[in-house]
Amino acid sequence: MATSRRGFIQLVGLNGLAVAAAGCATARPARTPAVAPQAAPPLGALGTRSSLIRLSSNENSAGPGAKVLTAMQDSFGVANRYAFRLPSDLADAVAGSLGVQPSQVALGCGSSEILDSAAAAFLGPGRALVTAMPTFELLSGRAAMWGSDVIDVPVDAELRLDLDQMAGRARGAGLIFVCNPNNPTGTVHGAADIEAFVAAALRAEPKATILIDEAYHEYVEHADYKTSIGLALSNPRVVVSRTFSKVYGMAGLRVGYAVGQSETLRAMHRFLDSGRLSCLSARAGLTALADQARVAEMCSNNHAARAMTVQALRDAGYRVADSEANFVMADVQRDIRVFQRACRDRGVEIARPFPPLLTWARITIGAMAEMQQAVEAFRGALAEPLPTADALPALERYVPRRDGTWAC
Ligand SMILES: Cc1ncc(COP(=O)(O)O)c(C=O)c1O
Repeated sequence: MATSRRGFIQLVGLNGLAVAAAGCATARPARTPAVAPQAAPPLGALGTRSSLIRLSSNENSAGPGAKVLTAMQDSFGVANRYAFRLPSDLADAVAGSLGVQPSQVALGCGSSEILDSAAAAFLGPGRALVTAMPTFELLSGRAAMWGSDVIDVPVDAELRLDLDQMAGRARGAGLIFVCNPNNPTGTVHGAADIEAFVAAALRAEPKATILIDEAYHEYVEHADYKTSIGLALSNPRVVVSRTFSKVYGMAGLRVGYAVGQSETLRAMHRFLDSGRLSCLSARAGLTALADQARVAEMCSNNHAARAMTVQALRDAGYRVADSEANFVMADVQRDIRVFQRACRDRGVEIARPFPPLLTWARITIGAMAEMQQAVEAFRGALAEPLPTADALPALERYVPRRDGTWAC
């Protein structure tokens, strides 16, 4: 049965009420809590029904497919049971889809948990993190937590990872983070570049582990690109991370995974627990994986909307980095906070600033209709007069943190 998202949400709400009512019938009288439990906040608080076009977090605005929604709905009846087998079924299915052994796959609550576990396993005092600037920043924060130095290597003039510099700074690294395609720049490296990088980095630091983040893998069309899973299977010092949060439209369901040699994953397993995955998320993952036609449809929609957006920005005279992901970065030639506010005033939310690229806007690519509206908003925002220098201090300042990341 196909279910609209609204119908799905209403069903969850009704189910929640039924569970609450059943609880009331059997519960012992309890002391009145000082603060009465509140109903769940309206969905608007998640942005789900807000009128804002959300182009800030690289989500898939189409959401999970109809088959996934139905599978989750069918799971409501077993939501009172622990999922036990489901996560291992999902790990088996992921392994099957990649042609690897189940022991070469580790599941996490989103790939964030995979990155977390790699930080816990491979960082620590005297074991630095080598990463790009800008890139996905989760590991920089974790490095501070684990007592590691952070070596930030700026992207090059084309906004690509500077792999030579990263390999050159690898000595003493515990973990090297390679985001391919890179978030927030969208740029990608081909298989030959990555292979040469891995060899050079491990020559410099044979004890380092290289985490290659392929969160946006499915979107890539570049002929030179290839997943690094083959490298991870042949080299115990390489791990690949993937996620269901992007093309599968399941960011809120929290499913990600790592692929690598089972010995390498064993070090990360100490900090992972597939039992954290809910039965809804595991069922959703299994169903989504089996629906590759929808993945192809999502990619093709995204490519069309991305091409239209890039063309509009370039026609307006702005530089846009080549992107192989579901977002683009454009140099809007003004303080990005000013552009961000002007877009928000026009109903479009774009991403925060990514130092040191302080005039570059990262724009997630939504559905074509959303992007057509967004492009109009961008035109309006770009036509606004630039604020005078003395108007800028009213905005928050960028504050470099001791761990190498930036607070805005
Ligand atoms: C490159 C990259 N890696 C990992 C993540 C974490 O995603 P999740 O924890 O939802 O899998 C993100 C999220 O935006 C990302 O951009």
